[in-house]
Amino acid sequence: MKDLKFYLNKALKQHFALGAFNFCNMESLQAIINASLKAKSPAIISVSESALSYMGEDFVMALAKIAKKQNPALFLHLDHGKSFEVCKKAVDLGFDSVMIDGSAFDFEKNVKLTKKVCAYAHKKGVLVEGEIGQIKGIEDNVKADQNIYTSPEEAYKFARETGVDLLAVAIGTSHGVNKYSKNPTLRMDILSEIEKLLPSLPLVLHGASTVDEALIKTFNDFGGQLTKAKGVSEELLMEAVTKHNIVKINTDTDIRLSFTSETRKILSENKKEIDPRKYLGKGKEKAEEILLAKMKNVLFSAGKK
Ligand code: G3H
Ligand code: 13P
Ligand code: ZN
Repeated sequence: MKDLKFYLNKALKQHFALGAFNFCNMESLQAIINASLKAKSPAIISVSESALSYMGEDFVMALAKIAKKQNPALFLHLDHGKSFEVCKKAVDLGFDSVMIDGSAFDFEKNVKLTKKVCAYAHKKGVLVEGEIGQIKGIEDNVKADQNIYTSPEEAYKFARETGVDLLAVAIGTSHGVNKYSKNPTLRMDILSEIEKLLPSLPLVLHGASTVDEALIKTFNDFGGQLTKAKGVSEELLMEAVTKHNIVKINTDTDIRLSFTSETRKILSENKKEIDPRKYLGKGKEKAEEILLAKMKNVLFSAGKK
């Protein structure tokens, strides 16, 4: 059966990554579906806790059903679940995988919570992602003040004790638009150490948006004020995918930016426009273009369906 586990194992063997793309409405999901169909690619469609409450669970499940009908290689994932209860809810709703993010807790508490989620999810065949180390940056519901790199020894202990199927590691990325004040870097040495200890565990990179300069220029040209935006470079992502065991790459910011920079442009240029389809439609096209290029040229998931 070509389930999520099948694709994660395939990605591990063939050194490509599944994009885990966040959606928060029909249009952002359509952009992901369209790009995945054009690329003949598997992908993960991610919903954060706040996106789940924004859309409501009925809409999320209905949208995911449509997505899977159009591309059966799309898998529904809970992003940054902060409690057992929200992970349980996602498992019960029929998600393919859940992330329990216990990274704000101390090691023992993180292990205990993650183990509890694994015990519940695994009984129902749902995969679990845990996080060890902290990935900085601020999103609505994802907050960490500093980047605490993952300790390879702790990662080993954590994976052994919890039985997670995927592990998110902190190696220098962060959430949001302002990831670096200087040149982007990633601690590939930490990744190598983790891989020596856990050679067959699928690893996850959060905060992996590249924050395209052209999108930032459009955003700022039409009244936006993102003056310090900088993302991860495509070269670093490619290295993490082709030379390491990163098989899930999380991207939200690039999708948000695609929509919002296009919206700014259309509304500035057309002061009488009132039709949301005009600006959301352009945002959707831009997001689709960006995601298709990622699947083909950075994640190498194109053609892997
Ligand atoms: O990693 C976090 C995601 O970008 C979700 O953010 O809680 O604002 O939907 P959100
Ligand atoms: P970005 O903010 O870099 O898109 O990261 C998103 C993410 O990690 C979702 O879990
Ligand atoms: Zn994240």
